[in-house]
Amino acid sequence: EVALHSSARTKGLIFGAAATYQQLSSNKAYANLFAQQCGMLVPTNELKWQELRPSPGRFNFTRADWMARFARSHGMLFRGHTLVWHKALPNWFASTVNKQNAEKYLREHISRVAGHYAGQMHSWDVVNEAIDLQVQRADQLRNTPWLRFLGPEYIDLAFRAAAEADPQALLVYNDFAIEHDTPQAEAKRTAVLRLLERLKSRGTPVQALGIQSHLFGHPDGVKFTQIRRFLRNVADLGLQIMITELDVNDQQLPRDAAVRDRAVAKIYADFLSAVLDEPAVIAVMTWGLSDRYTWLANRKPRGDGGGLRPLPFDEQLRPKPAWQSLASAI
Ligand code: XIL
Repeated sequence: EVALHSSARTKGLIFGAAATYQQLSSNKAYANLFAQQCGMLVPTNELKWQELRPSPGRFNFTRADWMARFARSHGMLFRGHTLVWHKALPNWFASTVNKQNAEKYLREHISRVAGHYAGQMHSWDVVNEAIDLQVQRADQLRNTPWLRFLGPEYIDLAFRAAAEADPQALLVYNDFAIEHDTPQAEAKRTAVLRLLERLKSRGTPVQALGIQSHLFGHPDGVKFTQIRRFLRNVADLGLQIMITELDVNDQQLPRDAAVRDRAVAKIYADFLSAVLDEPAVIAVMTWGLSDRYTWLANRKPRGDGGGLRPLPFDEQLRPKPAWQSLASAI
């Protein structure tokens, strides 16, 4: 059987996944599997503010640098997640950053971090999850410290600072809950498209859309018919598209693991068939490779005590039907 990244490469696609320093440095079997299957690595948490900035004046690149070397030494591309997000901010943030110094902090962060990896990053998630359908604003921008301190222009400022710090990285706007055939996802797609149009019309250097793709199974089945049109509209803006955090939450699927695995694999196949129809899609990244390390495990345990099975490899690192779906699609 061929590794996912090699089959992806023959189609001009990149396949990769997220991992942590802890996983790759402590589990040799996992590190080997990762290097064999993936053509790109993205640190799960190591490039977030909380991990990089123990205090206002200190940057700690130790873990992220180790991961950059791991990627390079195994011939993998490396991508950055994420420069601007309302979550994973350090404890000192709330008492330190204010309206007066916010622009200085944002610029400094981006120039230090994107500058540190300049020339080494395939792409950067410059801004993550800036849209929130719950807010009352017409532009539906999320109520974050950056919005409160700097207004909607914080997004433009971030992309311009990233372009300056690393002119080679592909600059990505990344968001979630855009994938399914639901009214909420349709509303999210509309809001994301409006944001991208606005950024492009101002000459802001956004170059790609990242679609997180945290999908979920449903007892009645799920469909992906609406996303194609959206992807076309995004591509028509001159943007590339990346699937950045693919997994399938099987919380609501039947208890039997084999049945569940088949349902999850079908969702992988149906989703990939919809999105890979769009030539602007350049990469597929899963959010982890093995169920052993899924981020969903500690957050949303199944009532029956069985672990979630959202990823292409099981807890023993054996390929699952979802791996087959990926191997056939990419
Ligand atoms: C998650 C990580 O997987 C967890 O380890 C961490 O505790 C919280 O963040 N969307 C994103 C990612 O953009 O940064 C999130 O990662 C998952 C949802």
